[in-house]
Amino acid sequence: MSGAGLTEVPATEVKAEYSVFTDDGPSLREAADARGLNFGVAVIPGRFRQPLYGGTLIGNFNSMTAENVMKWQTIHPERNRYDFSEADQIIDFAAENGMTVRGHTIIWHNQLAKWVTDTQWSRDELIEVMREHIFAVAGRYKGKILAWDVVNEAIDGSNYRKSLFYNVIGPEYIAMAFRMAHEADPQARLYYNDYGVSGLGAKSDAMYAMVKELLDDGVPIHGVGLQTHMSMQWDFSYDSMRRNMARFVDLGLKVDLTEVDVRMELPVTNEKLAEQADRYKRLMETCLEFPTCDTFIIWGLSDSASWIEYTFNGMGSATIFDTHYQPKPAFFGVREALVNGPPARDGDPDAPVVQRRAVPPFIASEAAEVPVLDGAAGEDEWGGGIVYPLGFNQLSPRDLRDTGSVAGTWTAVYKGNTLYGLLTREDDITYTGDRSSWENDTLEVFFDMNGTFVQLRTLIGQDFQAVSYEGPARAVWSDDGRVCEFSVVLPDTGLANMLCGWNIALSDNDGSGRTAQLYPVNGINDSYTGVNLGSLKFEGTSPRPPEAARITYPFKAAARAGITVDGNWSAAEWGNTVSYPFLFNQLNPDNLCPPVDDADLSGGWGIAWDGITLYGYVHRRDDITYTGAADSWENDCVEVFIDAAGTFAQHRIPAGKDWEDMPSAGVRTAAWSA
Ligand code: XIL
Repeated sequence: MSGAGLTEVPATEVKAEYSVFTDDGPSLREAADARGLNFGVAVIPGRFRQPLYGGTLIGNFNSMTAENVMKWQTIHPERNRYDFSEADQIIDFAAENGMTVRGHTIIWHNQLAKWVTDTQWSRDELIEVMREHIFAVAGRYKGKILAWDVVNEAIDGSNYRKSLFYNVIGPEYIAMAFRMAHEADPQARLYYNDYGVSGLGAKSDAMYAMVKELLDDGVPIHGVGLQTHMSMQWDFSYDSMRRNMARFVDLGLKVDLTEVDVRMELPVTNEKLAEQADRYKRLMETCLEFPTCDTFIIWGLSDSASWIEYTFNGMGSATIFDTHYQPKPAFFGVREALVNGPPARDGDPDAPVVQRRAVPPFIASEAAEVPVLDGAAGEDEWGGGIVYPLGFNQLSPRDLRDTGSVAGTWTAVYKGNTLYGLLTREDDITYTGDRSSWENDTLEVFFDMNGTFVQLRTLIGQDFQAVSYEGPARAVWSDDGRVCEFSVVLPDTGLANMLCGWNIALSDNDGSGRTAQLYPVNGINDSYTGVNLGSLKFEGTSPRPPEAARITYPFKAAARAGITVDGNWSAAEWGNTVSYPFLFNQLNPDNLCPPVDDADLSGGWGIAWDGITLYGYVHRRDDITYTGAADSWENDCVEVFIDAAGTFAQHRIPAGKDWEDMPSAGVRTAAWSA
């Protein structure tokens, strides 16, 4: 095993006896393809045509990123001059060789162009410079980049790094950069990338708080990149890394290993190479534990193309190929992990739950005026509060669609540590004669404040009864039972910026048992036990770190053979599938209730699976069918969004037509009823 020569070997001097390594085992590329992993390397495009460099690259990797050539100083050397030549080579080489590309990096304090660092910018000017740069760079490669490291290394210790962008613009530069990048290339996954954040610790805590806030503010961020430049001088805890990754995954983010290398003190010994192999193997295993860690990038193709020697004194040999592009033990470590996958961790209570996703929290805005609880939603009294629909009938776990017997909307605002709520209710028969209070027509609210669970119930026309809460709470109904205004003093102060577990439910009993209990989230009516709550965010800013968003109950796809896609729905065919309502009108953020009257639209859906095929149906009720708009998404259509093992796909079926051709197309059929 070579490894001693650490200076670069120019192509002309590479001896004939060195050729691109292959053996009887799978190439790393084949093994990565089999796992659906983007297995990449940071490249120097000037070397693509060197046979050992180019051959090793395309033989072992299905992805790459730019080690330097997409950085500001290279790609945008003067205000009005861009140099895309080397970055273009990466895009072209990737296309020729069927590889994905990660863009690295857009906003970073290092390797900036002199014209940027040497100018005294005003805040507005620097924002404009950032915008021009982002639109030029991300815009040029629109649709060709799988993921961008949009902002790199913005945290120093556990604070914002006092970079040029921070000093001139303020911390908002980060959200701005993501928003601009999303506008410039809406298909690209957008990442925050940093070093020293692979395991739990002060810096990764700071990163967690930062990305959480970005998510809460609706900033388009899709993942975090853990650079993972590792030194064998330091111990490393894979368990800490796993727990750290799990918390980002729980936020609904992807977590990639973006700049992996494992450096050692020179000279190289066999023992060190063996330890390095173990470290690479375990890093790969840890990534593979998470379906959402679908990218693993090594920072340098070989020890003759690595930044370590010229950056860290006395250190080297950090990659998986030696200076002659021959495999080191680390190569075999990576391959073993790719072939065998992560070791089973069955029954491990700390094993991360990676398949469930948090949905955005409901919002309680801060009330300008405290609402008067009189059963009449006065003019402007609830202004600024978002109107949400109630619509998942959790009492009917096989068919959660609207029963037609009851309907409602709700709004929540807060002031101080009091939550104020407004319910509107439509129910033709009001019944409160059942001995068990929960069996009646009721309104129930559920909170989980930092582990303190609170449930409250009010029968139509009556005040709250304490269910598991002694704190002050009031409910006031209109005489006709169509409006309830309520308040709850919460066992917590400083609500601003806090997320709590939350649910709200409207029950219906017409005299012979309850028929419906409508919630704003999917579930099986077990919120009263304190589980499966959605989350409510008290909008506002405070230094208080927000907690993680709750995960609501997953939708179910039934296992079902023999479905024919022909537009004829029958109960026999769809058997045990669960029917769900379409509930939230996301086109209207102030009032997410489904439109009524002139824009009538409602429907339900269900899904089933067989082998590797997902089947679905949609029942649609819409008085006018229109498919004449030029932009296909503007038409009456059904859209399906799937993230399977970190691979995102969007599909669209215009009403009455077949699937539209979209970039993420799989094998699909669709049929509509006449
Ligand atoms: C490094 C490159 O590898 C060097 O060639 C260059 O001189 C300096 O930058 N974190 C990052 C990468 O995000 O962009 C850095 O790359 C390594 C640390």
